[in-house]
Amino acid sequence: MAKAAPTSSKSLFMFIWLFIFMLNFNSSQGQEEVELLLSFKASIHDPLHFLSNWLNSSSICKWHGITCSNSSNVNSIMLSSKNFSGEISSTMFQLPYVTNIDLSNNKLVGEIKLNHYSSLSSPLRYLNLSNNNLTGFLPQTLFSASFSNLETLDLSNNMFSGVIPNQIGLLPSLKYLDIGGNVLVGKIPNSITNLTTLQYLTLASNQLVGEIPKDIGLMKSLKWIYFGYNNLSDEIPRSIGELYSLNHLDLVYNNLTGPLPESLRNLTHLQYLFVYQNKLSGPIPLSIYELRNLVSLDLSYNSLSGEISELVINLQRLEILHLFSNSFTGKIPKSLTSLPRLQVLQLWSNKLIGEIPQELGKHNNLTVLDLSSNNLIGNIPDSLCDSGILYKLILFSNALEGEIPNSLSSCTSLGRVRLQDNKLSGSLPTDLTKLPHIYMLDISGNKLYGRIDDRKWNMKALQMLSLANNNFSGNLPNTFGSAKLEDLDLSHNQFSGYIPHGFGSLSEVMQLKLSNNNLYGNIPEEICLCKKLVVLEFSHNHLTGHIPKT
Ligand SMILES: *[C@@H]1O[C@H](CO)[C@@H](O)[C@H](O)[C@H]1NC(C)=O
Ligand SMILES: *[C@@H]1O[C@H](CO)[C@@H](O)[C@H](O)[C@H]1NC(C)=O
Ligand SMILES: *[C@@H]1O[C@H](CO)[C@@H](O)[C@H](O)[C@H]1NC(C)=O
Ligand SMILES: *[C@@H]1O[C@H](CO)[C@@H](O)[C@H](O)[C@H]1NC(C)=O
Ligand SMILES: *[C@@H]1O[C@H](CO)[C@@H](O)[C@H](O)[C@H]1NC(C)=O
Ligand SMILES: *[C@@H]1O[C@H](CO)[C@@H](O)[C@H](O)[C@H]1NC(C)=O
Ligand SMILES: *[C@@H]1O[C@H](CO)[C@@H](O)[C@H](O)[C@H]1NC(C)=O
Ligand SMILES: *[C@@H]1O[C@H](CO)[C@@H](O)[C@H](O)[C@H]1NC(C)=O
Ligand SMILES: *[C@@H]1O[C@H](CO)[C@@H](O)[C@H](O)[C@H]1NC(C)=O
Ligand SMILES: *[C@@H]1O[C@H](CO)[C@@H](O)[C@H](O)[C@H]1NC(C)=O
Ligand SMILES: *[C@@H]1O[C@H](CO)[C@@H](O)[C@H](O)[C@H]1NC(C)=O
Repeated sequence: MAKAAPTSSKSLFMFIWLFIFMLNFNSSQGQEEVELLLSFKASIHDPLHFLSNWLNSSSICKWHGITCSNSSNVNSIMLSSKNFSGEISSTMFQLPYVTNIDLSNNKLVGEIKLNHYSSLSSPLRYLNLSNNNLTGFLPQTLFSASFSNLETLDLSNNMFSGVIPNQIGLLPSLKYLDIGGNVLVGKIPNSITNLTTLQYLTLASNQLVGEIPKDIGLMKSLKWIYFGYNNLSDEIPRSIGELYSLNHLDLVYNNLTGPLPESLRNLTHLQYLFVYQNKLSGPIPLSIYELRNLVSLDLSYNSLSGEISELVINLQRLEILHLFSNSFTGKIPKSLTSLPRLQVLQLWSNKLIGEIPQELGKHNNLTVLDLSSNNLIGNIPDSLCDSGILYKLILFSNALEGEIPNSLSSCTSLGRVRLQDNKLSGSLPTDLTKLPHIYMLDISGNKLYGRIDDRKWNMKALQMLSLANNNFSGNLPNTFGSAKLEDLDLSHNQFSGYIPHGFGSLSEVMQLKLSNNNLYGNIPEEICLCKKLVVLEFSHNHLTGHIPKT
């Protein structure tokens, strides 16, 4: 026992010493975090005083925007949208336990400096610096073994310049990478294909050139690809068909050439395929029609050709089909009429022939239909507005004939109607002139005839009306029921009678064309109330009297 006492008092002493050491260690550790964060606070401007409780004297874990772990270490800094300006002090990235940093949506400027990290390993998993005005190169260090825990990296919408570093492929845990909306140049490094855990990749809105990495198919976890608004060229790599989890593929506004790859067939989860504004050519590969989950297919503004297959019937979930501004030939497939969710169908500026499928709209959910500038013949189907939500009906510059269907008279959802430059005949459906939401009605350049003053005009939203180049006759109506009319073109018809005094109440009208009719009598003084007039055409009528002084 005698010998034991000193031992046990020694161990007690050791214990107390250790305890004090630990306390000290902990508080100096905490003190280091305090100093680092206060140094960040000092480096920025905080106009909303969000950091007012960041004081040396108060507990760091209670500071606004700071979250601590159970052991009182700072592990998350959430300071999005605080109107901070100034430069980010690099001390922010030296906090030893921090896993999440969000400084998005501020006005931070300058470069990110991470030089001290050359040997350290950061626990950082989430870094969001998006929507600031950060400049300089993407920090090389960020793409090194030091940041191997990074899962989410959002540097989008800044002013980062230079190339995408080759080391980008070294981040083994990355799931989410957004470096879109910067001024990055050069090629997409092939090493990016090493990011096999990446699910979300945005490089959109930069100035990237060159080809999409041929081995992109290695990035097996990818669900979302956004490469739009760059200058990427060459063909879409075939291996893209190996990205079996892909949900969104967005390659719009690039310089891509060649065909759509047949390999797309295997992308059974694909819901959004956007390749508009490129230089793609050749036909739509039949494999596209195997993508049964497609919700939106946009191939517009390319040089694609060939026919649109009846196999489109497979795309039962399709809501938006944009194939405009290509060189598609053949007929509009009948099977489009049996896509129950189809809302937007835009096939304009192609070389399509034949009739508009007779039941189009009957079993669809059409809100926008634009088939303009093709070579379509036959009647306008009765069923287009069966959805009750058709808003845009645009069929101009075809060779459509027959009457404007009466069914459109009850289509109260219509806003924009452009049927000009066809061969439509008959009279204007009576109740069409009572539709409350139409702001544009252009039916010029047809063979329409009959009176228009024999019904009520009550088009409250109307801004533009053109009946020009038809064979309408009789008197002009005194009003169109709209105080918003800006552009009224009734020229090149057979209208007769006086210019109605009511036209003086068109207070917004800028363009008024009544030329080439059989109007007679005086120019009514009231016209001078139309203060916004820029263009006034009354030529080739039988008007008499004097030109109003005002
Ligand atoms: C914070 O307080 C410690 C002493 O508790 C002091 O050493 C340190 O200089 C202070 N830091 C600042 C930025 O005021
Ligand atoms: C922190 O403590 C809570 C309960 O006190 C526990 O549920 C949680 O798992 C702990 N978290 C960590 C990261 O240890
Ligand atoms: C942030 O700053 C801008 C001007 O720089 C100001 O318009 C805006 O109101 C500020 N936001 C808040 C929440 O004060
Ligand atoms: C980054 O922050 C922005 C703005 O606060 C937010 O919209 C975006 O979703 C965040 N990114 C990630 C990956 O969480
Ligand atoms: C971003 O910074 C640049 C200079 O680095 C400046 O010209 C530009 O106006 C800034 N933009 C915003 C939105 O603050
Ligand atoms: C992918 O990573 C491996 C190992 O780090 C490396 O050898 C290879 O060159 C990388 N691939 C590319 C395309 O950079
Ligand atoms: C693409 O390149 C063309 C020609 O060099 C250039 O005019 C255009 O601005 C570039 N677009 C982008 C998004 O970089
Ligand atoms: C776009 O592609 C064409 C070849 O189709 C090429 O000549 C041109 O340089 C490319 N433009 C850019 C900006 O890459
Ligand atoms: C598509 O999948 C089938 C089997 O599911 C496979 O045989 C074929 O090679 C795949 N094609 C591509 C381009 O990956
Ligand atoms: C039709 O479209 C409307 C929205 O425009 C939507 O709410 C509705 O769910 C659609 N119906 C079907 C069957 O897709
Ligand atoms: C236009 O209508 C008038 C009668 O209003 C008729 O005499 C004439 O033949 C028609 N012209 C055309 C081109 O249809």
